[in-house]
Amino acid sequence: MVSFTAERRRFLAAIALVAALCLPAGAQERREYLPPPTGTVHAVAAEHGMVVAQEKIGARIGADILRQGGNAVDAAVATGFALAVTYPRAGNIGGGGFMVIHSAERHEDVAIDYRETAPAAATRDMFLGADGKPDIAKSRDSALSIGVPGTVAGLALALEKYGSGKFTLADLLKPAIELARDGFIIADDMADTLPAIARRLARWPASAKIFSRADGTSLREDDRLVQADLAATLSAIAAQGPRGFYEGPVAERLAAGIRDAGGIMTADDLKSYQPVIRAPVRGSYRGFDIISMPPPSSGGVVLLETLNILEGFPMPEMKRGSAASLHVMIEAMKRAYADRARYLGDPDFISAPVATLMSKEYAAKQRASIDLDRATPWMDAPSATPPREGSNTTHFSVVDSRGNAVSNTYTLNFPYGVGLVADGTGVLLNNELDDFTAAPGASNAFGLVGFEANLPGPGKRPLSSMSPTIVLKDGKPVLVTGSPGGSRIISTVLQVIVNVLDYGMDVAQAVAAPRLHHQWRPDVVRVERGFADDTLAALRERGHEVIEPLGQTSANSIAVTPNGLLGAPDPRTRGAEAAGQ
Ligand code: DON
Repeated sequence: MVSFTAERRRFLAAIALVAALCLPAGAQERREYLPPPTGTVHAVAAEHGMVVAQEKIGARIGADILRQGGNAVDAAVATGFALAVTYPRAGNIGGGGFMVIHSAERHEDVAIDYRETAPAAATRDMFLGADGKPDIAKSRDSALSIGVPGTVAGLALALEKYGSGKFTLADLLKPAIELARDGFIIADDMADTLPAIARRLARWPASAKIFSRADGTSLREDDRLVQADLAATLSAIAAQGPRGFYEGPVAERLAAGIRDAGGIMTADDLKSYQPVIRAPVRGSYRGFDIISMPPPSSGGVVLLETLNILEGFPMPEMKRGSAASLHVMIEAMKRAYADRARYLGDPDFISAPVATLMSKEYAAKQRASIDLDRATPWMDAPSATPPREGSNTTHFSVVDSRGNAVSNTYTLNFPYGVGLVADGTGVLLNNELDDFTAAPGASNAFGLVGFEANLPGPGKRPLSSMSPTIVLKDGKPVLVTGSPGGSRIISTVLQVIVNVLDYGMDVAQAVAAPRLHHQWRPDVVRVERGFADDTLAALRERGHEVIEPLGQTSANSIAVTPNGLLGAPDPRTRGAEAAGQ
């Protein structure tokens, strides 16, 4: 076990990192989110198809593909590549993610796992310092933290298997290539992130140059961001498919850039990368089917365990936002996140009791352990690192006119990843391997504790929380949702679903409503502003330690209703857009 002092030291280091890196960026969104008054939030309507994404150019590119007769997967692939150019905080080809697809055309629900893998030279103690303790400088701030990127292979696989066939990969890359080559005008939200990231990027001058003016200061709002090397890399993918990225000159430059920065990834690691088509996890909640991401994301399993626990409580009769309903939600989260820590990891390396964790019987046992009047204390919990702030992952939802739906979440882990752009590639690289557990009992940047199941290993995928999710009724999508937010992703998706299914909220209200979060360790409830003071007092009376604020999440969602599509770009974050047609 990791000692209390070590945890405390890491806690202080994390605070320093957050202060240096994150708070100035988009601070307005993270510190000040106050749910808009009821009646002032409206969903965006569309009849035929819709893309809701965190950045408007990327969202519109996907909607345009729908307009040209593309299906939801075609649109998602175009949006995914476009965001790698227009939303470099998290949109990426140097990271990885997960896509859940409901293919009405093929009567199939699938999950594409394009999570990064650890290089072949990875070892279980690779993130320990000379003193044998977790060293976050290695797992978060060094080239050792870079996982083999999965996005290019994942998006290409999704297109090949589930695209409409009307568009080639090159067709869908074209808008991204043009945006990278000709540049685009930087919006306020992106401009706000750049000074905060400058110090991180400055470690690699060629990386810093891309996001800097000629005088070396950060690009500002209304400046044009041109990414010529990225355009060339995207063109190589357009010309050769994923091989243009995983083999040949781009791969060699990636491997050389990472090696020169002290990393261990090789050209062979890139060549060996494989995305995986997995069966999504599937469960039911009050007559709806929920499909979500299986391991190596913990998202679907934790979401279904929590929903199963809540199903036995009369949530619809407990007033939304009441202390009683929030108490059971917190207790359900606590239990499911504890199971996440204990059991989950890459399914190709460990075997987890996933079926049990998602069963109604197990949920009944968990439910029986909940005291309706008292918080269950988690006395074994030393103070773990609190969830880290930052808008470092991005989620988009897509629905087309044929009933297909795509829920996609992908990431570089931290904003702009580790900050390294391998020379001559334009590719910003991730620091995803911090999602491994450096030592049993240690926590990652989001305060998520883990044990044996999630230790690093060659070829292994670090456990994720990303939870792209689709809710179905009678086999047809009714809600597509997901979010960034590290550990908070799963509780965000849970609350959007409960707000829609239990409380009958319109999707825009469901997304805007204040959220809370408990992740087992640390034993605290984090809350957004907007909960009534007496409700928070009632939670404290039950024994919960309630803390503001809750770090940023952004659940860009779509509801499919009998009257058409309703899009909900999350009001917490600037720049999100529902592009419909
Ligand atoms: O895979 C995960 O769970 C994390 N790497 C996601 C990071 C994230 O959402 C950061 N966003 N705020």
